[in-house]
Amino acid sequence: MISVAIDGPSGAGKSTLARRLAAELGYVYVDTGAMYRAIGLYGLRAGADLKDEAQVTALLPAIKLELRYADGAQHILLNGEDVSEAIRAEQVGMAASSVSAHPAVRTFLLETQRGLARQNNVLMDGRDIGTVVLPDATLKIFLTASPEARARRRQAELAAKGVDADYDTVLRDIRTRDDQDTHRAAAPLRQAEDAVLVDTSELDFEQSFAALRKLVEQAAAKEG
Ligand code: DC
Repeated sequence: MISVAIDGPSGAGKSTLARRLAAELGYVYVDTGAMYRAIGLYGLRAGADLKDEAQVTALLPAIKLELRYADGAQHILLNGEDVSEAIRAEQVGMAASSVSAHPAVRTFLLETQRGLARQNNVLMDGRDIGTVVLPDATLKIFLTASPEARARRRQAELAAKGVDADYDTVLRDIRTRDDQDTHRAAAPLRQAEDAVLVDTSELDFEQSFAALRKLVEQAAAKEG
């Protein structure tokens, strides 16, 4: 099985790039952020204090997550409800970042993530895929871009959805999330020693895509 780990901060373009790459190469795309987001959404709905480890841990037994794949797209079901759209809200991203700091939440998802890579050729994106989830991945990519470049892209994405977001607010949110994800004790965001660094600050989508595609094709060819 071939496994490609793609880690990096929020807004670096991981999911858009990985989704298309997986579709073109016939791999299963696993968006691990969606799993943390679904737990964050559940916590928000439950009115829990998401920074409180005991409160969040107590919610886990009531959470059942299922991944379904339709036309190459990952759908995530939270206790039977398709929450693929609902989890994309900014507030849910922040909630995901908070719940993901708790070790019990990470353990809760680890086996599911590893199981997917045992059974399929995967392109898996997240924060700790190369460092913790798939330490023996065929290829590890650390995809990043400056906070400013990510904020500009995020603002454009929101504008395309008809949401008029203030650049400074978007940038501040990105920095807050980077800070939370990088400084937590449990599986913080960091580049694995054997990961290839791809900085997309100065690249457009097609250039980023071509760079990633080349890396994956080279690694797959080496694997035989
Ligand atoms: O990639 P994303 O924005 O959908 O991720 C949402 C949050 O989930 C992110 O801020 C940190 C957390 N996360 C994580 O801790 N580990 C992962 N493998 C993926 C996401």
